[in-house]
Amino acid sequence: MRNVKVFDTTLRDGEQTPGVSFPLNYKIQIAKQLDKLGVDIIEAGFPAASKGEFNAVKTIVDLELSAEICGLARIVDYDINSALDSDVDLVHIFISTSKIQIDHTIKKSREEIIEDSVRAVEYIKDHGRRCMFSAMDATRTEIDYLLRIYKAVEDAGVDIINVPDTVGVATPFKFYELIKKLREEIKVPIDVHCHNDFGLATANTYSAVLAGADEVQVTVNGIGERAGNANLAEVVMILKSMEGIEMNIKTEYLVETSKLVERLTGFRIPPNTPIVGENAFSHESGIHAHGVIKESSTFEPGLITPEMVGHKRRIVLGKHAGRHQIKKILEDAGYSVSEEDLTKIFEKVKELGDRGKKVTDLDLFTIAEVIIGELKKEEKAILVDEITVMTGNKITPTAIINADVFNERKVKSAIGVGPVDAALKAVTELVGERIRITEFKMDAITGGSDALAEVYVTVEDDTGRLFTARSAGPDIVMASIDAVINAVNYLMIKRKLDERNRDTEDS
Ligand code: KIV
Ligand code: ZN
Repeated sequence: MRNVKVFDTTLRDGEQTPGVSFPLNYKIQIAKQLDKLGVDIIEAGFPAASKGEFNAVKTIVDLELSAEICGLARIVDYDINSALDSDVDLVHIFISTSKIQIDHTIKKSREEIIEDSVRAVEYIKDHGRRCMFSAMDATRTEIDYLLRIYKAVEDAGVDIINVPDTVGVATPFKFYELIKKLREEIKVPIDVHCHNDFGLATANTYSAVLAGADEVQVTVNGIGERAGNANLAEVVMILKSMEGIEMNIKTEYLVETSKLVERLTGFRIPPNTPIVGENAFSHESGIHAHGVIKESSTFEPGLITPEMVGHKRRIVLGKHAGRHQIKKILEDAGYSVSEEDLTKIFEKVKELGDRGKKVTDLDLFTIAEVIIGELKKEEKAILVDEITVMTGNKITPTAIINADVFNERKVKSAIGVGPVDAALKAVTELVGERIRITEFKMDAITGGSDALAEVYVTVEDDTGRLFTARSAGPDIVMASIDAVINAVNYLMIKRKLDERNRDTEDS
């Protein structure tokens, strides 16, 4: 069984994403999460870049994580000494080797570049550290020169060589040939670093492994310079599920890791992102949903399941919805529907879908409720009486909520990073530990400062039941509270109904 190592560069190349800069506490959170995920190496940063960056790399080293910590350095004394001083386990040195970069950026002779690289490797090895050497722009470097420089650093004692496709011009077949050739000539492990300028970073990384690469450089959500780097979740799941390659990654944390990086970078991944995107295991079309309800591998790859990557399968409603799908969602929520009622509900859902509406669980249950009259409209778990939300430049955002929860008066308060966060925390306080907000999305649906905000939320109860709801209004705090309370109301009422039904069955 082959084993491939995962080298994560979210904190270094990922931070070179235009518009992304991680404060120290974000870097620490990401490093801990990567360690929990099981990556073998964390490239924590570029210690010579600034005092703050040095401090961040050193702080991550001091966390004493299981992963090896790497720091990047150009082949200049200051950079290498900064990396050594930050106490990283692995110093990653790089220098341009392609004609275009040599001519326009470093202006050294090819011999000088080799000599400087060899000296740098020897210096790092003399300091007892592991060393990785990158021939920057390797995929546009003449092959004879590339082989010469890699062999020279190998002779100097380098531990691993990296083959960067710096501007993302490799293609899977050409990259396969390049790595195969290097594999035949070089003894030390080979690592690859692919950029996504043509959308081929994952495919190139995959073909490099097939050609014999031992280690892959990736980032969470594929963030990185320009169009980004190879995506960690994609690369890991291809290698694991298609090739049976062993890695130390605990794949069940992939979604959690993606969500953390999404939150801390503010870069939202599209819903159709493979493996970790919201729609990766969602089914809307009636034909697909029907198949998946019976046997999930009918309309999913089968090689991966949502559970393997920490995801959830979802049957989503829209104009392609089928009867089975609607029946299953209703039955899972505890409704029993006759065929006649199902037809009416089905037609109503189609009508909403045709009007371009995404049908949330709340929409469906409201339709069902009206048609079969199982839940009384006025039956509410939470009845909000008063909400006060304070925010300002000298106040910690605070929310106080006054409500009846199953006819019991409760007053709760919470603080948050902003007014919406504080308000939602106060709402969850009302219902205790029993629910958590797993997804929160807000869109402005009209322009201007008086825009209508539309909020979609997904909440989960302690049995793992998910429930989506929405609300819209000009006040973002009130729209958010409304959406969450709508969802929570239904979850709590359904729970009560389930308990009632169970008691009736027992007696
Ligand atoms: O893309 C690149 O060439 C790099 C190097 C520093 C490895 O990020
Ligand atoms: Zn790069």
